[in-house]
Amino acid sequence: MGNLLANTLNWVDERFPLTKMWREHLSEYYAPKNFNFWYYFGSLALLVLVNQIVTGIFLTMNYKPDAGLAFASVEYIMRDVEWGWLIRYLHSTGASAFFVVVYLHMFRAMLYGSYKKPRELIWIFGMLIYLTLMAEAFLGYLLPWGQMSYWGAQVIISLFGAVPFIGEELALWIRGDYVVSDITLNRFFALHVIAIPLALVGLVAAHILALHEVGSNNPDGVEIKKHKDANGIPLDGIPFHPYYTVKDIFGASVFLVIFAIIVFYFPEMYIFFLEPANFIPANPIQTPEHIAPLWYFTPFYAILRAVPSYPWLMGKFAGVLAMGAAVMVLFFLPWIDRSPVRSIRYRSNAFKAWLTIFIVSFIGLGILGMLPADPIKQKLSQLLSIGYFGFFIALYIISKNERCKAVPDRVTWK
Ligand code: HEM
Repeated sequence: MGNLLANTLNWVDERFPLTKMWREHLSEYYAPKNFNFWYYFGSLALLVLVNQIVTGIFLTMNYKPDAGLAFASVEYIMRDVEWGWLIRYLHSTGASAFFVVVYLHMFRAMLYGSYKKPRELIWIFGMLIYLTLMAEAFLGYLLPWGQMSYWGAQVIISLFGAVPFIGEELALWIRGDYVVSDITLNRFFALHVIAIPLALVGLVAAHILALHEVGSNNPDGVEIKKHKDANGIPLDGIPFHPYYTVKDIFGASVFLVIFAIIVFYFPEMYIFFLEPANFIPANPIQTPEHIAPLWYFTPFYAILRAVPSYPWLMGKFAGVLAMGAAVMVLFFLPWIDRSPVRSIRYRSNAFKAWLTIFIVSFIGLGILGMLPADPIKQKLSQLLSIGYFGFFIALYIISKNERCKAVPDRVTWK
C-alpha cells in the first residue's frame, strides 16, 4: 500500500510539481515563530471564503434570479428545501463574518506595519480583495429582493448619478433600466455568482503568492531572513506545517464554535446581519422610512452623509468623493507611513494616539451610519470624519522623523 502511494506520488511529481508546492508553501515555508492572536485572521478569511463559495453553490440550486420569483424562492429555500435554512444562514452569517475577519486582518497589518517594504504588494492585493469583497456583498444583498435589497441598491446606484456630466448615463448603465428592475437583478446575479467570486479567488491567490515571495512579517516587525543558519533557514523561523497548520486548525475550531452559535441562535444578530425590512418583498412604489446599509458599510455611509450637499460643493458629489477617498486612501498606506519601524511595539506614543483616534473614528462612524440622520449626528459624523482622515495626514507628518524605541535584532518570544 505504502509503495503504491509512493509510486503514485512519484508519477504525479514527474508530471506536476505537487511535492515541490507542498514544500515551498507548507513544510518548508519558514514563518516567524512569534505569531500571535492577530495572525489567525488570514487563514480564517480563507475558511470563510470557502464557506461562501460552497454554500453559495447550493443556494444557487434553488434560487431564482427573477424579480417575480426571487423573494419567494428565498422563502422556499428557508421553509421547504431540506437544510435550506442552514445553507442560507451559513451564507448570510458568513458575509458578516467575512468582514469581521477581514477588518481584524487589516488592523493587524496596521499594528505591525505589515504593509511596509517589501510587503506593499501584499497590501495592494489585499485592498483589491477588500474592494472586490465590498462589491460582492453589495451585489449579493439585492438578490433576496426584499425592501432593503431594492432600496439599498437604488440609493447606492443613484450615488453614481451624482458624478458630474456622465452621472445619469453611468447610473443607467449600471441598472440597465431607469429604476432598479428585473434587468438589474439578473446582471447582479451574474456578477455575484461568477464574475466577482472568480476575481476574488484570483486575487487571494496573488495575495498569498506575494506573501510567500517575501515572507511573513511578525508582531516585532523584525525581518527574520536577516539571520539564517548554515542551511539558509531563518533562525527565528519555523516550518508552516506542522506548527502553524496546527495553530490555524485550533483557531478555525474556536471560530467555528462562535460562528455556529450565531448561525443557530442569532442568525439575524438582532438587526445587524439580516435587516427586518428585508423580510418584506421589494416594493418599487413604497420607500422604507429608514434606509441603511449593513454594518460593514456604515462607516463609509456616515462619511457620505457627513458632507453637506451645497451647489458650490458639486452637490451630492462631494460626499461621494469623500466616501471614495476614505476607501482609496488606504491603498497608499505603505507610502503615507514613512517610519522605518514597523511594529507598534517600538513606535512613538504619537503613532499610538493617532491609531487610537483612527479606530475610535471608524467605529463611531460605523455606529452613526446605522442611525437615522439628524443635524447633531451629522456634526458628530463630521468630527469623526476629520479624525479618520486626520490619521493619514498626521501619520505622513509624524512618521518622517518618528522617535521610536530600539527594535531588537531577533524576534522576542517567550
Ligand atoms: C479574502 C480575503 C483575504 C484572505 C483569504 C487573506 C489571506 C491571507 C493569509 C492566509 C495571510 C497569511 C496569514 C496571516 O498573516 O494572517 C495573509 C497575510 C496578509 N494579508 Fe491578507 N487576506 C485577505 C484579505 C486581506 C486584506 C483586505 C488586506 C489589506 C487590505 C490584507 C493584507 C494582508 C497583509 C499585509 C498580510 C501580511 C501580514 C504579515 O505578514 O504580517 N489581506 N492574508
